[in-house]
Amino acid sequence: MKLTIKSSRREYDIYIKDHLLDNIENYLDVSKNYIIISDDNVSKLFVNKLSNKLSNNYLIDFPEGESSKSFFQYERIANILLKKEVKKDSIIIALGGGVTGDLAGFLASTILRGIEYIQIPTTLLSQIDSSIGGKVGINTESAKNCIGSIYPPSLVLIDPKVLDTLPEKHFNNGVAEMIKYGMIKSKSLFEDLKNLDIKSNIGYYIYQSLLIKQELVEKDEFDERDRRLLNFGHTFGHAYEAFYKYEKYLHGEAVGLGMLFMVDKEIESELKVVLSKYNLPSEDTVTKEELLQYVKLDKKAKNNGIYVVMVDKIGEAYIIKKQIEEL
Ligand SMILES: NC(=O)c1ccc[n+]([C@@H]2O[C@H](COP(=O)([O-])OP(=O)(O)OC[C@H]3O[C@@H](n4cnc5c(N)ncnc54)[C@H](O)[C@@H]3O)[C@@H](O)[C@H]2O)c1
Repeated sequence: MKLTIKSSRREYDIYIKDHLLDNIENYLDVSKNYIIISDDNVSKLFVNKLSNKLSNNYLIDFPEGESSKSFFQYERIANILLKKEVKKDSIIIALGGGVTGDLAGFLASTILRGIEYIQIPTTLLSQIDSSIGGKVGINTESAKNCIGSIYPPSLVLIDPKVLDTLPEKHFNNGVAEMIKYGMIKSKSLFEDLKNLDIKSNIGYYIYQSLLIKQELVEKDEFDERDRRLLNFGHTFGHAYEAFYKYEKYLHGEAVGLGMLFMVDKEIESELKVVLSKYNLPSEDTVTKEELLQYVKLDKKAKNNGIYVVMVDKIGEAYIIKKQIEEL
């Protein structure tokens, strides 16, 4: 399966194919200069599939986990790139989950004022979400993703077979984002997630999810209007993450809980059934009042009001400004 995404900087293709990583020479010009950036989990699993085929390449790895989306890793890797005399025509390959894609993409967007990079996402979340749309960046001590840019990749290569080694908790974390796509744009995707075994046909569902993200990022690349529908569940999701200091929940898990605040009672019970099917949390002991303290700090809260995404009918979302008191 193939999609082509239009962005202001370039058009780029996304290929989705089982065992694509075993045939990488069909997708890349193997004679070019590549730098593979990957976390230390993923590099052990998959880097050989690339390095054996690419004539000129070297690996830079970093410790797995969210804490590597940092100034420290950014600076360390940038210095290695410069010492190794990275060239304007060198190409970075981001091989890994969303952490790798965001960090490597941000390096690509800034080193030598921007070089090409390719996304090879290896988690479900990164395959359906973070590898497309061009948002790249790192975290600071005060906030997540607050240093970054919108810098699309030149190519995205998705091999659903790499998900075979992904721990189930991380697989389900990606499913939470898929549920979100269903909630905001596709009743039929939501119904499939509720009723079918999506794992056995995951390539098809990756494609369906990407079609939804494609529509939104092409309409609104710079996140000023329609793309914000993708923030469904994020207002309270971010609050859960911050309340628990990013320790209790993975991002998708927190977003799943956050979605429950933005629907009526009937949809809430339907959504809870689907979240539970994928072992995603569907309730938590923290009160809404406690969460609201964090919602108020959200960067999107302006003049005591905040734009939130609501769903009154599965598959149809809208954005509305609410006062904190109304929430
Ligand atoms: N740029 C965007 O548009 C965007 C969108 C959503 C999320 N994000 C970011 O994505 C990040 C989360 O991404 P993630 O959930 O992929 O986390 P991640 O990159 O940390 O990967 C999760 C874990 O899975 C491991 N892993 C990855 N692929 C594997 C595989 N095939 N087999 C076995 N283990 C594997 C990793 O080593 C890691 O331990 C967050 O930083 C979030 O802010 C970015």
